[in-house]
Amino acid sequence: MGRLVVVSNRVPSSSDRQQPAGGLAVALQDALSHGEALWFGWSGQQIAEAEASNRKPSEETVDNVTYATIDLTHAEFDGFYQKYSNGILWPLCHYRAGLMDYSRKDREVYLTVNHLFAQQLRPLLRPDDIIWVHDYHLFPLGQALRDVGITNPIGFFLHIPFPPWSLMKALPGAERLMHSLESYDVIGLQTEDDARNMNDGLEQCGVQTRGQVFPIGIDPASFAAQAKACEDDFDVQRLQQSLRGRPLVIGVDRLDYSKGIPERFHGYEAFLKRFPEHKGKVMYLQIAPVSRGTVEEYRRLKQDLDETAGRINGMYGDFDWTPIRYITHPVPRHLLAGFYRLADVALVTPLRDGMNLVAKEYVAAQDEEDPGVLILSHFAGAAPEMEDALLVNPHDADEIADALHKALTMTQSERQERWERLKPDVWRVTAGSWARDFIEQLVRVERG
Ligand code: ADP
Ligand code: F6P
Repeated sequence: MGRLVVVSNRVPSSSDRQQPAGGLAVALQDALSHGEALWFGWSGQQIAEAEASNRKPSEETVDNVTYATIDLTHAEFDGFYQKYSNGILWPLCHYRAGLMDYSRKDREVYLTVNHLFAQQLRPLLRPDDIIWVHDYHLFPLGQALRDVGITNPIGFFLHIPFPPWSLMKALPGAERLMHSLESYDVIGLQTEDDARNMNDGLEQCGVQTRGQVFPIGIDPASFAAQAKACEDDFDVQRLQQSLRGRPLVIGVDRLDYSKGIPERFHGYEAFLKRFPEHKGKVMYLQIAPVSRGTVEEYRRLKQDLDETAGRINGMYGDFDWTPIRYITHPVPRHLLAGFYRLADVALVTPLRDGMNLVAKEYVAAQDEEDPGVLILSHFAGAAPEMEDALLVNPHDADEIADALHKALTMTQSERQERWERLKPDVWRVTAGSWARDFIEQLVRVERG
């Protein structure tokens, strides 16, 4: 096999590589650790229009991976990333058509940036490369690469959900988007539901190609080792001491409306109201680093959360107890692992999520003698593989409250039994196996 070329909108900067927040960056780190590879995408930087005419990718090689990135102009950043990708495709794919703010101009910028990616990537490609395109920012990149003459095998993986065609077709130009997928040799989705939805859409549009399921995973062995090694870490100890023997409930998500954080806060509030015996006796730590903070809907969400956390803390708190500890900056991965291990309960309650790696990380991080309890939304892509979690409907605050009470009062033997049943799938479908399975399919295409 030739070189693996990964293309994604965001390529982690050297500092992000230490502590990436976001499933794509986390999963790909493992996939790129074998063999020579190129990772191409946006630098995260914006430039003036005048500087755009002679732009070229800037390259940095670290070990076996070359990171090649291009800057986007302010207008490209706005139309391609903020508006079309995150203001239209993201809400639509998360079944929130009502939040979609469509304009034809943004769609044009989206297509233009996809063509720009193709033009800038072309000179970096070798004849035996296999190309793997990621996520909704780049749906039409396969077609754009074919348009500039690339004949290498090209695969596409969608990290987020794909909605039913009846919803997707609310997107003006949806049929063209489906036709552009025909340029890919392999298309991967996270779950059976996503594949069914996409394949139904492809069929309705008369497109021959079909999507297949490749559920994404984590690197459980190294995550578990990291969590254990972290037990004596100064900051993990600091958190433990601050608990003063009280159980810890943890939530870890990018600050995104798909993650259901306000609904979770309401669930926690219902729990304090209906089970007052836990008041003052439980700590809930929500780590939610700001994400896409320049997009309007995300700004509104942050305001809402700031207010809700403040209100709940004001209403239920005491002079020696804060109901919600709420942090909006990222936490280094090794510490997260240690925090998960310390936590008695994880609240993972997205309204809709492609997979949700946090759920898998939490399971991997547990102490086998005394594991914690995972409360998981039915609408996370991980739910069908994790039926031994306490599955909840995140829209029902009382269901979250009941699950919290059940988790906090569960016997050690039930916790162990549930965890033993959750573990095999987390260890079976890993970041490594996900990438290997996908790449194998692409290599098969290469060999005809
Ligand atoms: P998404 O891709 O939508 O962000 P996932 O749950 O699939 O959601 O992946 C999130 C990844 O980012 C996980 O590996 C998680 O550990 C990491 N992450 C999430 N929140 C934080 C945070 N506050 N600090 C550091 N890493 C985080
Ligand atoms: O998996 C969803 C995703 O969009 C990833 O593609 C990305 O790494 C992550 O969320 C963070 O989003 P952004 O790149 O917009 O900051």
